[in-house]
Amino acid sequence: MEVVIVPDAAAGGEVIAEAVVSLVRRRPDALFGVATGSTPLPVYKALAAKVRGGVVDVSRVRVCQLDEYVGLPAGHPESYRSVVLREVVEPLGLSAEAFMGPDGAAEDVQAACEAYDAALAAAGGVDLQLLGIGTDGHIGFNEPCSSLASRTRIKTLTEQTRVDNARFFGGDIDQVPHHVITQGIGTILEARHVVLLATGEGKAEAVAQSVEGPVAAVVPASALQLHPHATVVVDEAAASKLK
Ligand code: F6R
Repeated sequence: MEVVIVPDAAAGGEVIAEAVVSLVRRRPDALFGVATGSTPLPVYKALAAKVRGGVVDVSRVRVCQLDEYVGLPAGHPESYRSVVLREVVEPLGLSAEAFMGPDGAAEDVQAACEAYDAALAAAGGVDLQLLGIGTDGHIGFNEPCSSLASRTRIKTLTEQTRVDNARFFGGDIDQVPHHVITQGIGTILEARHVVLLATGEGKAEAVAQSVEGPVAAVVPASALQLHPHATVVVDEAAASKLK
């Protein structure tokens, strides 16, 4: 596991956008796995600026979602499909066909989860998976004690994660769904390169446990220690509890 400490979130976004650019130069139709939430926004901003500046041609890049809320109405602005379309697909000038994600509105959620794992495999697997980290150490929505071998499946959000995400729902925790579909930890570890970005002091404890603690299901991000090509990019605040 490689740990890169950067001064701030914008610098983290720049470093990771550069990694995406070099991937796309090697593999123009790369499958880029994207996370939602606040942390990855500087990456998407830096990457969009490079695309606008003609630094890289992303016209053949494909994008796939990490997770999705279950039960939000189609087109809800905070469904992760809407967020990825708004923050990634549109700014990069990609077509909606270049984008895949799990169906959070499916009647048979289990079948939708299995279909998504199959679709990722059929697409050749994820080349670079970008991750954030929860204050409780979750990746995707694999909350503490998720199996390290888990596949895409439905999960129940912890109260802490619903509190953390209420800011996207007007501060009203009652609007935050209880259930999500998330790529499993085993699914995430199949990506050829996994890049986790963590910024801010609130992530420092989770980062320290993930990077320097034992590999344990109670800290899902510690599973990245098992990956042959994992990069953890942290700003100084998020690195503050590393030894
Ligand atoms: C989002 C996701 C989550 C977030 C995590 C951190 O797709 O999978 O694991 O990355 O909850 O969220 P922020 O970045 O908002 O602190």
